[in-house]
Amino acid sequence: MAEVIYGSEIAADIKADLKQQIAELNKRNERLPRLVVILIGNHAASLSYVKGKERACHEIGMENELIQLSEDTQESELLALIDKLNQDAAVDGILVQLPLPEHINESRVLYAISPEKDVDGFHPYNIGRMMMGKPTFLPCTPKGIMEVLKRISMKELSGKHAVVIGRSNIVGKPIAQLLLAANATVTITHSKTANIKEITKMADILIVAVGKPRMVDGSWIKEGAVVIDVGVNRDENNKLCGDVDFASAESKAAYITPVPKGIGPMTIAMLMSNTLDAYFAHQKSAQG
Ligand code: GUN
Repeated sequence: MAEVIYGSEIAADIKADLKQQIAELNKRNERLPRLVVILIGNHAASLSYVKGKERACHEIGMENELIQLSEDTQESELLALIDKLNQDAAVDGILVQLPLPEHINESRVLYAISPEKDVDGFHPYNIGRMMMGKPTFLPCTPKGIMEVLKRISMKELSGKHAVVIGRSNIVGKPIAQLLLAANATVTITHSKTANIKEITKMADILIVAVGKPRMVDGSWIKEGAVVIDVGVNRDENNKLCGDVDFASAESKAAYITPVPKGIGPMTIAMLMSNTLDAYFAHQKSAQG
């Protein structure tokens, strides 16, 4: 039976550490780190995600602002708002929740955020730095997965075969890059991959980021693998579930992350960590 890795517990440890750092700043009467989250429209899942980010800020004493704009907001208005926040010395991190409404060009918006305030790590400049292995803001979900792998027996990824299912810009592509940088042998699979199960069954580490309820069951998994489930879905009974069928996967894997309480809380903890990093860099450059 697999050991269940509760990302929620690791995230709580990380947030406790960040909270202490912010309390120190407070004690010294320093300016506090500030995150601004922009949400456009009424996407239910997005609203729940941004509320989670807001809660985490409150929990650790980080200043935060949620700017909610209507679905019909024009791209030019959003770009003007981002420009204002880029120039605001009291703002350390800017996050525009995705997906955006159809009429707004996502690339133009992500380009507009100052790379120094891009705590999501979605700006092409920061993605380029990640590709080159330079210090940068890493995208929060992949960074959270690497932190989970660090804390279990997977301290040494060198030579391991990691298989990623999914090729999104937010998870699949960046996690493949981070695993590669850690010397794993990486295979990326996706909806057009032939004989996908033959590949996943070779994985020492299987990362599933697809968005299909319980798509991967125990028959896709090698005995003793580490299984990381990034999916957040609702099943036919409206119950929260991952991309992995937990019950059958649990009897094959050595380690498995659950949904909920798995990777989701890690994503938020990494966002808090990135924002504190942005704050320190911002303070340093302000002091010359
Ligand atoms: N939508 C789903 N995940 C994310 C994320 O990590 N950041 C942003 N900005 N939007 C998302």
